[in-house]
Amino acid sequence: MKPRLVPGALIVLFVAMSMTSSVARGQQLPSCLRGRGSASCLRAFQGRAAGPGSADKHVVDAAAADRGKKIWAGECISCHGTQARGTDSGPNLVQSVIVLHDRYGSDLGPFLRKGHPTQSREPSASFSDPQIADLSHFIHQRVYETLRSSPTFVVQDILTGDPGAGAKYFNGEGRCVTCHSPTGDLAGIGGRYAPPVLQQRFIFPRSGRGGRPVTVTVTPSGGAPMSGVLAQMDDFTVSLRDASGAYHSWKRTPDLTVVKNDPYAAHIELLDRITDKNMHDVVAYLASLSRVQ
Ligand code: HEC
Ligand code: HEC
Repeated sequence: MKPRLVPGALIVLFVAMSMTSSVARGQQLPSCLRGRGSASCLRAFQGRAAGPGSADKHVVDAAAADRGKKIWAGECISCHGTQARGTDSGPNLVQSVIVLHDRYGSDLGPFLRKGHPTQSREPSASFSDPQIADLSHFIHQRVYETLRSSPTFVVQDILTGDPGAGAKYFNGEGRCVTCHSPTGDLAGIGGRYAPPVLQQRFIFPRSGRGGRPVTVTVTPSGGAPMSGVLAQMDDFTVSLRDASGAYHSWKRTPDLTVVKNDPYAAHIELLDRITDKNMHDVVAYLASLSRVQ
């Protein structure tokens, strides 16, 4: 099981700039997300948090982060530093793909369970799920804090990729070219966004500006198809709002055809396969597209 809020990770880089309304509002997390969470809980949470981008973020719970800070000080700080920005003995976690993909311990947990140094020399596999969730809250808090206080710090770190390799990935394995063009829709994109925003736009194009909605087409057997913006969908019902704003709902019977269309599906899927290197290379490549050719 790999619980993950989709679309997940790198939004944190952007969150710095639009420091999140939901964090500020102290959005309540469902209790199943406070521990390790479960895929179904995550999906349910996502469904509820239908507001633009709100499902993307790791929403920091301040009390959990405080608890995480104590564990951090006891087990991690000597190598990863007070701000999680790294020391000579451990890397900067603000730029860690594991952390950026992590939601409430979803990736940090499996990473620590594989075995990792700790200051106390207690095996890292012995952390409980709530402890891992607390650590995750603390590290994400550091990530947001770092990005808010010092965008330039991140800018330097982000442009470490190889633009040539990025171009190759863009045109090849990444299949970006099937939807985008460096001389078309992405022409000059490097001049439009600072690198952290660029990285965020590439990994989470939906976030930050509302984004295009998920639509759905429902066809009852023998009836006419109806399309609109997806309002709600689970195993039992599906509902949409049509162009006039009218709400329609169906019971999900076997003869009802439901086709969901998420304009960002390719980008969500990308999160599961892109490597750290690919990501940095692509960002360096996109950043090099600074002029409209
Ligand atoms: C003795 C030093 C040391 C301690 C203590 C330590 N780490 Fe690390 N950590 C490292 C080193 C070195 C790496 C890079 C090599 C690796 O991935 O194992 C690393 C890597 C990581 C990564 C992966 C970064 C990436 O994206 O590759 C995470 C996450 C992490 N540590 C979290 C923690 C947490 C959480 C704690 C405390 C519970 C902790 N570490 C304690 C030295 C340490
Ligand atoms: C199946 C189609 C598809 C594929 C494949 C795809 N994208 Fe996208 N991409 C989109 C859509 C749709 C958007 C959102 C456009 C919008 O909202 O206006 C988007 C947005 C973006 C943006 C943000 C543009 C902006 O102006 O904010 C970037 C950057 C981007 N994609 C880069 C990539 C890269 C790099 C790859 C390959 C690793 C890739 N995309 C693969 C469909 C795709």
